[in-house]
Amino acid sequence: MNILLLGSGGREHAFAWKISQSPRCSQLFVAPGNPGTSEIAINVPLGVTDFVGIYEFIKSNAIDLLVIGPEEPLVKGLVDYLHTQQGLEHLPIVGPSQLGATLEGSKDFSKQFMLRNGVPTAAYATFHAHQLAEGIAYLEQQSLPIVLKADGLAAGKGVLICESLEVAKTSLKEMLVDAKFGDASSKVVVEEFLTGIELSVFVATDGVSYKILPEAKDYKRIGEGDTGLNTGGMGAISPVPFADIAFLTKVEEHIVKPSIQGLAKEGIPFKGFLFIGLMNTNGEPYVIEYNVRMGDPETEAVLPRIESDFVDLLSSIAEGELADYTLQVSPKTCATVVMVSGGYPEGYEKGFSITLPKTNTGAVLFHAGTARNESGSLVNSGGRVLAVTGIGANLEDALASAYGSIQQVSWQKAYYRRDIGQDILRLKI
Ligand code: AMP
Ligand code: GLY
Repeated sequence: MNILLLGSGGREHAFAWKISQSPRCSQLFVAPGNPGTSEIAINVPLGVTDFVGIYEFIKSNAIDLLVIGPEEPLVKGLVDYLHTQQGLEHLPIVGPSQLGATLEGSKDFSKQFMLRNGVPTAAYATFHAHQLAEGIAYLEQQSLPIVLKADGLAAGKGVLICESLEVAKTSLKEMLVDAKFGDASSKVVVEEFLTGIELSVFVATDGVSYKILPEAKDYKRIGEGDTGLNTGGMGAISPVPFADIAFLTKVEEHIVKPSIQGLAKEGIPFKGFLFIGLMNTNGEPYVIEYNVRMGDPETEAVLPRIESDFVDLLSSIAEGELADYTLQVSPKTCATVVMVSGGYPEGYEKGFSITLPKTNTGAVLFHAGTARNESGSLVNSGGRVLAVTGIGANLEDALASAYGSIQQVSWQKAYYRRDIGQDILRLKI
């Protein structure tokens, strides 16, 4: 198969790494890709929302399968666009329709979907820009903390957890009236605060059948001990010990099944990955959010555990044949540590030369925000720069492998959290 993969992060390097290991892949193109993907695939200088460029590339390179990594092209309707082009009506694509992608593109839409389909989630109300007074009256009735969410995509920044009523009121006004997150906050979901431990669950689906991939735990905050600003993700581990069979059975029965059945019943085309962010509150799972793609950095900890052929999985999703696919998962543990540019998630300097390990350390190194400068040296070019995944018989071994490898990686002002997985080790499950 000739495969085109869209995206340029650590998630896409992990996808490319896995795809290129499959005997079913003859040629792999990644648009736009990164220096890591260029070692195992052909990078194509096309942006992920360049719909016309993507269409032309697919036509002229006999692409058999398109895999869409990030949410932006999905929410903007790339799948619907391509499927209405002559000759591409039946192009197998991993990635949901625009309507399906609205589960991530609009928090209000996803909350309504959950309510209609009996999926447990936090109580909420939605307010539009002209409803500030109603919104404030609602806030006055709620207990604290309270969660405010911009309805639309806000690059992971649109969620505010407010500890005081005053902050909640001011923030609601800033979002609704002052357009704090632009158009994305012209509607705001006000939601009950859930306490518990978070878990990321990944469901591959062709819109009817589904396979639950290995679960993961993501470390979102910049600082050790889960402190400081939210980031795209500073690390991940898989499996997650508290997600035992009893809990995962509840997740499947109360959340996965009604979600997939809801998509089918409501006629929402969805061939791709449904990423369910959930909270374990006293042993009961509640959905925090849906995403319509794999997580980053969770993918870097999840994909190395998939032992069955990955291109078979992708094509079964896209061809609607997932029921016939047998997913095999390794019992090993993966621990991913993300190395970032100093200063991230706020301002940071780019262009520092990166030194990589000279020999194979046993860990897998995925590129994210890296680039080649004019002289061909590898430099940091984004906030999240590298994701290093250690694989081991248990979490201690996986962490030792990841951190051992990191000792041999350096650039000026590089930063990473040294406590990935430590909370889980302390739980001693
Ligand atoms: P989201 O952008 O929806 O992933 O939200 C970002 C983060 O905010 C989540 O990963 C949670 O840590 C937190 N969060 C979102 N909604 C809630 C909620 N209802 N209760 C507690 N924490 C939440
Ligand atoms: N790591 C969280 C996300 O990909 O949204």
